[in-house]
Amino acid sequence: MTTQTTTPALVHTREELDAALAVQDVQAVPRTEGRSAHTARPHRRAVVMTMGALHAGHLSLVDRARELADAVVVTIFINPLQFSPSEDLARYPRDLQRDVALLSGPGLLGPDDIVFAPGPQVVYPDGDPIVRVSAGSIGDVLEGVSRPGHLDGVLTVVLKLLHLTRPDVAVFGAKDAQQLAAVRRMVRDLDVPVTVVGAPTVRDQDGIALSSRNAYLSDDEHRRALSLSRALRVTGTADQIRAAARRELQETDVDYVALVDPATFTEVPAGFVGEALLLVAATVGSTRLIDNAVVEVRA
Ligand code: PAF
Repeated sequence: MTTQTTTPALVHTREELDAALAVQDVQAVPRTEGRSAHTARPHRRAVVMTMGALHAGHLSLVDRARELADAVVVTIFINPLQFSPSEDLARYPRDLQRDVALLSGPGLLGPDDIVFAPGPQVVYPDGDPIVRVSAGSIGDVLEGVSRPGHLDGVLTVVLKLLHLTRPDVAVFGAKDAQQLAAVRRMVRDLDVPVTVVGAPTVRDQDGIALSSRNAYLSDDEHRRALSLSRALRVTGTADQIRAAARRELQETDVDYVALVDPATFTEVPAGFVGEALLLVAATVGSTRLIDNAVVEVRA
């Protein structure tokens, strides 16, 4: 008796990935039958890129990818290029077995789907790449000030993973708003043949945005971390919003509070009226957290 596998193909090397993509290209049957036009999947393959330590936020990206495409590739790779020497690369949580089990849960990845979990030597066979992608002016502000080179490292690996996995659509979380904007801009500026889709931030019931780094927080730090999502609910003029958000964050070590144009990441001027993106970054204990929301700025 043969048992049919229901779990995704787990691959680690470029050769294994190529073979699994070839199978996907032949076997992935359109899942559109019996679906309304609203849920029909126009794309063949979707990719969701992660660094592992998966939580419900990542799983919501996979859900979105499944809605958009017939077959899904999830990448799990902790990209050394986007960590500065002082950051938490060594202590970044790693548990591939748990991640694959989560991805194999009901309604998520099936046998037509792929988990690509390469090591650094697979992604960077020649060591640190000499040629890298620059995030340009989007990479010089906010996250770019606190984490110089971070977005260049992100874009470099995102472009490589797009080349390796060859998706039609790539789904990224809106929680990393600056990353999402930089990826969109790279795809447009460099004519990368993929559609980028942003998926909404997933929050716990208490409002905290789900993040792999939340695992580092003690109970008291978690309580203080709630001020990040509270800070995004302030209202008023541009100046009032910035000041009120800072006040909310007083129990944290504030890195930045910014109210920006979501496309360019430049600060909106004092008299601005309309929709803007409010972003906060703060350290609680030794854990740096970020969050953001679109807010309506009043006159
Ligand atoms: O958002 C992340 O987890 C990472 O920055 C990404 C997109 C997987 C690139 O390493």
